[in-house]
Amino acid sequence: MPSIDDLDTPAILIDVGRAEANIARAQAHADRHGLKLRPHIKTHKLPYWAKKQVAAGAVGITCQKIGEAEVMADAGLADIFLPYNILGKAKLERLKALHRRVTLSVTSDSMATLDGLAATFTDPGHRLPVLVECDTGAGRCGVQSTSEAIALAKEIDKARGIVFGGLMTYPAAGRAGEAEAWLADARQALAASGLACERISSGGTPDMWRSGEDSVVTEYRPGTYIYLDRYQVAKGVGSLDDCALTVLSTVVSHPTPTRAILDAGSKALSSDTLGLADFGELLGVLGARVTGLSEEHGNVTLSGDARLRIGERVRVVPDHACVVSNLFDEVHLIDGEKVLETLPVAARGRMG
Ligand SMILES: Cc1ncc(COP(=O)(O)O)c(C=O)c1O
Repeated sequence: MPSIDDLDTPAILIDVGRAEANIARAQAHADRHGLKLRPHIKTHKLPYWAKKQVAAGAVGITCQKIGEAEVMADAGLADIFLPYNILGKAKLERLKALHRRVTLSVTSDSMATLDGLAATFTDPGHRLPVLVECDTGAGRCGVQSTSEAIALAKEIDKARGIVFGGLMTYPAAGRAGEAEAWLADARQALAASGLACERISSGGTPDMWRSGEDSVVTEYRPGTYIYLDRYQVAKGVGSLDDCALTVLSTVVSHPTPTRAILDAGSKALSSDTLGLADFGELLGVLGARVTGLSEEHGNVTLSGDARLRIGERVRVVPDHACVVSNLFDEVHLIDGEKVLETLPVAARGRMG
C-alpha cells in the first residue's frame, strides 16, 4: 500500500478516520434532536462521501449546482435538494431531466424564478417541490418578509406542476437565533393563511450544534462539518486535530530563518480566508502560518522555535476546505501514513 511519502505535492489528503468521526458526530446530534440531516456536498464534491453520509442516516444530499447534482445522480444518490434560483431554458431543461430520475426539490425567492419553473414543470402527477428561500439576516438571496413568503407560497401552489415544499434559509454564522424567530413567524403566518409548512430547511456548520428539539427547523444542511477547517476551528466547532482535509506541500525555499516558501500557493489553497488572518497553518509545526500567497508559492512565517528545512513535506490546514476541494483533480484518502485510495473529485468545477 502506498504511503504519503510516495505522493507528489501539492496534494489533498483526507484523513478517513477524522471524516468518518465528523459524519458520525453530526448524525448523532441530528438523531438526538429529531432533525433530518441533508449534508451539502459542496465541501467534498465526492459521491464516495455522499454515499457514506446517506448510509450514516442522512435523508438525502444538498447540491448548489445542477452539474453537481447530475454527478451525484449518476453515482446513485436518489434524493437531492438544490437550494438555488434556477433560471434560463438550458438549466430548466437539465433540471427537468434530473426530476425524472431522482427525488428533487429546489428553491425560489421571486416570481421570475417561479415563472420559469411553472412553465417547465407542468405534470400534476409528478410535481416539483419548491421551497421559498428566506433571507433571515444573511443578506444573500431570499424573500425579505413573511408576507412575501406567503405570497410566493400561494403562487407556487397555483401552478400545476410544482408544489409548495416549505421554507429554506441559510443564516449567517452566529445568527441562527434570528433565523429561528423569522421562520417561526413565517410558519405561523402560513398556517393562518391555510398553508401547511412541513419542511423548514436551515444550514451552516458552526450553528448546527445549537440547533435543537424546540426549533422550527426540520432539516439541517451542514457542509464543512465533514472535513472542518481553520474557520470552523476559529468558530469553536472542533480542533485542528479534527480537521480531515490537509494540503500536502513541499518546502521549496527558506530565504530567511523566519520565512519558508511552500509549493502550495493560491492555486492550491485559494485566497479565501473567510475573514481570518493568514491563509492556513501547518499541522504539527507550532507557530507556522501561511501568511502570504502568490499563485504557486505559499509564504510561511515561522515564529518561536519553529524551523523547517528545504525539501521537507508539511501539511497545511486551509482556512476554507470547500474551495480547496474545487481546486484539485483528485484527493488521497489516508489512514495515518497509508494512502488507502485516490479518488477523482467528480463534482469539481461544475459551475452551472
Ligand atoms: C445554501 C447552503 N446551505 C448549506 C451550506 C453549508 O454551510 P457550512 O459549510 O457552513 O456547513 C452552505 C454553504 O455555503 C450553503 O450555501
